[in-house]
Amino acid sequence: MKILVGGQPREVRVLFSEEQIHNRIVEIAAEINSCPTPDQSALVVLVVLHGALLFAADLVRHIAMPTEIESVRIRSYHGTQSTGKIELLSQLPARLKGRHVLVVEDIIDSGRSIAFLRNELNSLGVASMRVAALLDKPEAHEETIQADFVGFKIGRNFVIGYGLDLDGHYRNLPYVAEVLGS
Ligand code: IMP
Ligand code: MG
Repeated sequence: MKILVGGQPREVRVLFSEEQIHNRIVEIAAEINSCPTPDQSALVVLVVLHGALLFAADLVRHIAMPTEIESVRIRSYHGTQSTGKIELLSQLPARLKGRHVLVVEDIIDSGRSIAFLRNELNSLGVASMRVAALLDKPEAHEETIQADFVGFKIGRNFVIGYGLDLDGHYRNLPYVAEVLGS
């Protein structure tokens, strides 16, 4: 398949199929289930919108402990390049204070979004914060951050599908594909 990136046609290649994603999510959920909250309180899954929408929806179905779902909207990307600036497009729910929070992200690239959220959540006074990311680009990290649960490590190429977008498009693809040479 070819898509247009900035007016230029680019080849797209499937990296992870629907089945591979499903199987990995079941494994990640098992890891999460093996680390219950220390005080048995409900886990609060904080979905980072819109990218993590599909991942979170599939992941929570396999989490076997009391779970609540909250969301936050942040934005850091325009096209295939990070702007380096994080915008909070919705307020963090105040009820996260004192709670054990699992941030669910689609992908970690520079790590700035997670570093930003860590700061915000610390200021809010959460009891703990852990991070589950479907995808991680270790070579692109600019912040020293580490996700507690990672689906797949990938290279630097831009990826689309399964929640991940290119200027708002392609989130609905059931697989993750990379844009070659991006
Ligand atoms: P970071 O703050 O640089 O780690 O970027 C994280 C955010 O940028 C993710 O939550 C995504 O929304 C977006 N992003 C980073 N890499 C990609 C990509 O390859 N495809 C689509 N979105 C991406
Ligand atoms: Mg995102």
